[in-house]
Amino acid sequence: MSISNATPVLAVDEKNLIPVSDHLKQMADIPPSRMFLINKSLKVYVEKNAGAKIFDASQGDGGASLPGTPRPILERALQLQLEHGTAYDMPFGTDAYRKAVIEQYWKLDSSSGWGPANVLGTAGGRDALNKAYQAMLALGHGRQGDLIMVSRVPWISYNWGPYGVGANVLWAPGDPAQGWAYSEEAIRESVKFAESKGRKIAGILITNPDNPTGMTIAVEKQVSLAKAALEAGVAFVLFDWMYHYVTDESPMDLNSFLKFFTPEERKRLMFLDGITKSLGGSNIRNCHLIADENVIKFIVARASHGVIPSFFSLAVAMAAYEMGYRQSRTNHHRADQRQPCGLEEVACRKWNAAHHRQRLLCLYECR
Ligand SMILES: Cc1ncc(COP(=O)(O)O)c(C=O)c1O
Repeated sequence: MSISNATPVLAVDEKNLIPVSDHLKQMADIPPSRMFLINKSLKVYVEKNAGAKIFDASQGDGGASLPGTPRPILERALQLQLEHGTAYDMPFGTDAYRKAVIEQYWKLDSSSGWGPANVLGTAGGRDALNKAYQAMLALGHGRQGDLIMVSRVPWISYNWGPYGVGANVLWAPGDPAQGWAYSEEAIRESVKFAESKGRKIAGILITNPDNPTGMTIAVEKQVSLAKAALEAGVAFVLFDWMYHYVTDESPMDLNSFLKFFTPEERKRLMFLDGITKSLGGSNIRNCHLIADENVIKFIVARASHGVIPSFFSLAVAMAAYEMGYRQSRTNHHRADQRQPCGLEEVACRKWNAAHHRQRLLCLYECR
């Protein structure tokens, strides 16, 4: 059938159109993340209140308290960029990056069924998360307006990132005495609550260690929470392990972790990790998402029309992996070099003693 050039034409079939809805007009305003503003506000406060008492809690920007990516890694990354050139790469990064994530960083066993095709390079964690929410909505129950479940006291970008891409956010029940942690019961209750509102749950975020509470969740508990969510009908479980190198506990091991799940369950899991915190590379903007191949393909197609990571960001991660990840960062991130944050003294409702017990680097951002 030939289409006349003289008439307007819809880019997709009538049956594939997005329905008209005026809900955009009714939406709450999305506030900016304060981490980008709080330092500036503090400067103004100090100018206006000379000598006033202030506390250095990195003032909202956790990255400010990190030592930064070691120079040899940056130099090696520059060399990789010079060798690689500046033409377009793929929307997931490069094949070499994917391979480095699987083989050098995670040392993932091929028996896991996951390999380089399960890796997506992203422009930092928030890019990965926004892409993940969209995949959860579309590939989960296939509906807009469904819910993304977070723990009771979420990091500010968990609150607003999903909302910006057409998902609503649900705070699971949580007891302050337990650091507002998830429980299996709270997850099941949340699913029932969602049903009572005509909603389904497209995904749950399990963050270990958590921001801003500093809570860590034992491996067995993470598995049990994920299984409870999947069994209750939550479409996807995303493990945000962005901080797992920034504690005195051992980092997560994807090989042994995946073994707790059946191949069917693995299709519904996503893992987020990156160099923002572990390498102090906040402005490098490199993270990766590991997920089922169909999820990655879905995201890559959309990323090809949107946000594609820069090669330099991938190269910084590859340089660190190549040097041996733990080794490349140890001298820069020793627990005894961490700065106490002073936040205890501030009336912060999210503050949790566990934070200091675990001697987590203070890089948490308040709401
Ligand atoms: C829990 C959590 N996940 C992911 C990120 C992503 O960070 P970015 O977008 O800066 O890479 C952060 C940053 O503070 C975080 O706190």
